[in-house]
Amino acid sequence: MHREETPVRPKRVLIIGGGPAGLITLRNLTKLGTFERVELVERRDDVGGVWYLGAKDANSKWPSPAYPGLIGNVLPEFLSVHDFPFPPPDQYDPEHRKNLPFPTLTETYDYLRAFAKPFLEDGRIRLGQQVVKVEETLIADGSTKDKWLVLIRDWNDPVNPGVEREEKWDAIVGCTGWYDNLVWPETEGLDALREKKLAVHAKGWNGPEGLEGKRVLIIGNANSSNDIASQLAPVAMTPIYRSIRRPNFPGFVSLPDERIENVPPVKRYMLTNTDKVKVELENGRIIDNIDIVFVGTGYKPHVDFVHVLPPPLDGVPNANGTTTVPLMSLVGLNAPTTLDPSDSENANSKPALSSVLTNRIPLLHRHILYAPSPSLAFILSMAAYTPFTIADVSSCWLALAWSTGKGGEGVEYPKTLDERLKFERERMEAIEKGRREIQERAQEKNDQREKEKENATKAADVREQHNTGGTTSETFSPSSSLIAAWQSGTNGHTPSALNLYSVLAVSEEDYAQGLKEDVVKARPELGREQKLWDQASASESEGGSDNIYRHLPGGGLPEWNLERRKKREEMYPIKLASLKWAREKMGERWTNREGR
Ligand SMILES: Cc1cc2nc3c(=O)[nH]c(=O)nc-3n(C[C@H](O)[C@H](O)[C@H](O)COP(=O)(O)OP(=O)(O)OC[C@H]3O[C@@H](n4cnc5c(N)ncnc54)[C@H](O)[C@@H]3O)c2cc1C
Ligand SMILES: NC(=O)c1ccc[n+]([C@@H]2O[C@H](COP(=O)([O-])OP(=O)(O)OC[C@H]3O[C@@H](n4cnc5c(N)ncnc54)[C@H](OP(=O)(O)O)[C@@H]3O)[C@@H](O)[C@H]2O)c1
Repeated sequence: MHREETPVRPKRVLIIGGGPAGLITLRNLTKLGTFERVELVERRDDVGGVWYLGAKDANSKWPSPAYPGLIGNVLPEFLSVHDFPFPPPDQYDPEHRKNLPFPTLTETYDYLRAFAKPFLEDGRIRLGQQVVKVEETLIADGSTKDKWLVLIRDWNDPVNPGVEREEKWDAIVGCTGWYDNLVWPETEGLDALREKKLAVHAKGWNGPEGLEGKRVLIIGNANSSNDIASQLAPVAMTPIYRSIRRPNFPGFVSLPDERIENVPPVKRYMLTNTDKVKVELENGRIIDNIDIVFVGTGYKPHVDFVHVLPPPLDGVPNANGTTTVPLMSLVGLNAPTTLDPSDSENANSKPALSSVLTNRIPLLHRHILYAPSPSLAFILSMAAYTPFTIADVSSCWLALAWSTGKGGEGVEYPKTLDERLKFERERMEAIEKGRREIQERAQEKNDQREKEKENATKAADVREQHNTGGTTSETFSPSSSLIAAWQSGTNGHTPSALNLYSVLAVSEEDYAQGLKEDVVKARPELGREQKLWDQASASESEGGSDNIYRHLPGGGLPEWNLERRKKREEMYPIKLASLKWAREKMGERWTNREGR
């Protein structure tokens, strides 16, 4: 019997990953939990995750997916961790930055570095330590003492770099992000291009240098692909082709640019004998002589280093056995009964458990606790519009779920495995239902069109959708026709890959508010109003009034209500305005500006 006695009360906790999720979790576990020791290991030589650019060349072991000139798409208020607000960018350069309120890569890195400073100094953050395996062990008495065996490769030893060492911890928090796991489209001919480095994933983007005059095709219509396109526009051969499956979603802000031509999805890639790329698009059009393809099709959640005991669930061979299995091998479990877990095309006439559902860290209660053994947890296992604040509230929740609160209990979670799995099952059902509805609606529309033989109208529709480049509206009020076009895609039936179990999307505020309510029940002080930078005087801060990274104790978590959602959505027109201002006032070079 390996089931843990719940609620688990680990004493020693290891956090893996020193990006925003790991750092925020470290602070919150240390501040709120009743643990003996909390440590964080990060494989790179500095903290910051995505936001620590570091070297980005063939020798970099773990390059960041960020790139020079990256400007955030989230405003300081939505990056502010409680007690440690993000300073407004006009602190740096009031004249320019009023119009450019989104922090740069460097500003975000500086914020995270300042946040991490006390933990770097007291040894609770260990850099240059890569976790290669986490293995669940059987603890006979149902406790969590030394339950997780962790194999760490230490890159700090100059004589023996990469030497391996084992450690034992009572609980593990995985905060390793998504960016080791690239999504590549399964399009004919793409693999051959990848081998020749003629197709490069957006993770490898490092700015437009060296691409002067090149003929480029970009795949995708979200933030990475759109940033790449706009950074290339002033230097590459025009038009720059951007292959899209749907019009630009208003949240992925990009300026319309006549040098960028939107084209339909690629049907197949071909290599010419001069090592150029030729593509056939879904509408039959051929584009020839392409020098390089940048593929901005995103990332997926995946943790290949975690191995767990087989959980006591139907369909698990040797359930309750002692030989561990990769956590990711469990993605077919807990499928809603309306779906076929085999994922084979309609094997028994039920819709298959599609890749949007298997693209997840499986069996998590509220995206956080591994339901079969709740001493394993993940923070930011999902993608959010405002990842820093979601990491904040979810790690407060975790700290209290693993601890006793001031008045006795901390945050409560369901006592049985089946109850803990309910959250995941219901969310999978909701996502799959939504996708099916989009497909059915689009199919009906297509059938109707076929019947009426409105081929001319249909062609015009597709043209109109392809021409919907950047978001042009000044406010976040996308028309219902844009949303409908976005949902059904340019071919009329593919739901967006972003309509995914692991993307919070419209459920973000409800999800966060639910966690916050649990947290505030255990720690009422976290229900106080959030303190933002401009709401407190310099004298209130710890660390001196000249320190732009102010620690402001005593603030609570934000309220995730309608007003907050509205404010968040208002960020997109603000970002659009800032892009316009920058282009008008600073010309093309602004996209490559580094730092502040
Ligand atoms: C190009 C780009 C731009 C973005 N822009 C924004 C933005 O403007 N605003 C915003 O809020 N979000 C943005 N994001 C989203 C981003 O995911 C979050 O801001 C945030 O970085 C997520 O934090 P994380 O800690 O989960 O992951 P990461 O930042 O990826 O950090 C994960 C850390 O874990 C470490 N790690 C991984 N595996 C191991 C291991 N086995 N052992 C030890 N350490 C390990 C990694 O080295 C890394 O440091 C952007 C993402 C990208 C790719
Ligand atoms: N400036 C910034 O702040 C900035 C810049 C870059 C990235 N980011 C962040 O980084 C994260 C990753 O962003 P991302 O843009 O790399 O990835 P993403 O948000 O996952 O977007 C992936 C894009 O690829 C398309 N796609 C997926 N599968 C495809 C396929 N098989 N064929 C063709 N197209 C396909 C999707 O279109 P469909 O909708 O049609 O599926 C979507 O347009 C996000 O959190 C993003 O906000 C931020």
